[in-house]
Amino acid sequence: MPDTTQFFLRLRDQFPALERELDERPVVYLDGPAGTQVPQRVIEAIQQYLSRHNANHGGRFATSRESDEVLDRAHRAAADLLGADDSDTVFFGPNMTTLTLAFSRALSHSWRPGDEVLVTRLDHDANVSPWVLAARDRGATVRFVEIRRDDCTLDLDDLRSKLSDRTRLVAVGCASNSVGTVNPVGDICRWAHDAGALTFLDAVHYAPHAVIDVASWDADFLACSAYKFFGPHVGLMWGRRELLEALPAYKVRPAPDDLPGKWMTGTQNHEGIAGVLAAIDYLADLGREISGQAGLDRRAALLEAWAAVGQHEQQMGQRLLAGLLDIPEVKVWGITAADRWTERVPTVSITHSRLRAAEMAERLGRDGIFVWAGNYYALQLTETLGLEPDGMVRLGLVHYNTFEEVDRTLAALRRLSA
Ligand SMILES: Cc1ncc(COP(=O)(O)O)c(C=O)c1O
Repeated sequence: MPDTTQFFLRLRDQFPALERELDERPVVYLDGPAGTQVPQRVIEAIQQYLSRHNANHGGRFATSRESDEVLDRAHRAAADLLGADDSDTVFFGPNMTTLTLAFSRALSHSWRPGDEVLVTRLDHDANVSPWVLAARDRGATVRFVEIRRDDCTLDLDDLRSKLSDRTRLVAVGCASNSVGTVNPVGDICRWAHDAGALTFLDAVHYAPHAVIDVASWDADFLACSAYKFFGPHVGLMWGRRELLEALPAYKVRPAPDDLPGKWMTGTQNHEGIAGVLAAIDYLADLGREISGQAGLDRRAALLEAWAAVGQHEQQMGQRLLAGLLDIPEVKVWGITAADRWTERVPTVSITHSRLRAAEMAERLGRDGIFVWAGNYYALQLTETLGLEPDGMVRLGLVHYNTFEEVDRTLAALRRLSA
């Protein structure tokens, strides 16, 4: 087993963007939750598609067949990433928000006044507003699951108390893109099913950090976005076959009625999908290399990758949290206890007693440390915490970040506070 710190440092060579400098110092990318950098092989896959196989779907000639082969391979790779055994149950689209908005129209088709939909105060708005709008159109009722303010976790008692035989859907995120909380989605799916409701999981923020497993979670639908897991700007969705087949898709007449085409409206971003395939294969190769098992199949290799990534992120994340807790002017929102690491990912949101979030982000940015300020569209959360309109500053670690970057960020924050 190679030394993991060295292993992850070497991986950085595969990401051209990480070579960027500001004032002769390497840039620190802590903006992964808003979109990660991509390895060279993803860039090459996109270029290769456009230069060699560029064609529309379903043609009776070589480039179209080659293009369709790339798309089929991408569906299989995405199924491996999500833990689905049926690659036709995965479909692509522009991004998670657009997929979810389109899907909400189909899923809500049978909702009636008296039906209820559960959304949460922790979620990104892309897993809130589509359901609120759909419920409004159908006369259904939306209920909000509250959070525990002290640690920004979902109030699970509140969630359970709001489930009833009127609940049609529970929409919940796997991990918060704001404060990093990981939700027990397997339990939530079970409780929802016991009440007769379906579940829609937002895995956008969870995807670059840990194993997605739609089968063991017993989910009904899940959406995520490849630009958050080292791929290009493409969205992905998965659903249970029988539900995807039964639901009425809003689609044009000549488009297929079977899976997955039924849910992929219009011509897809083929070059982007080629890039998604390359991103998933990058992660699988990471798993093969770090485990020393070159022959692993893709799903098994991805499990190895997430185990190693999780460990590396935990070490960096705990160092970041410990350092932040030592700066009196800084408040960390969310789980801070080191022994509760399994309940979070290394996405940390902070506020400062004197500086506004935008000013902190601006000053860190000038220092070559790229962070996000605001609500990052997790608007219910910042409203609930009383943090609008300024929001917070988000420091988001992914596996290509380093201990040195964590220390440099902490030093910069200490300087801001001095
Ligand atoms: C948790 C979460 N859900 C949904 C989204 C929306 O994803 P997309 O940009 O693919 O629409 C984001 C984007 O930041 C996110 O972080």
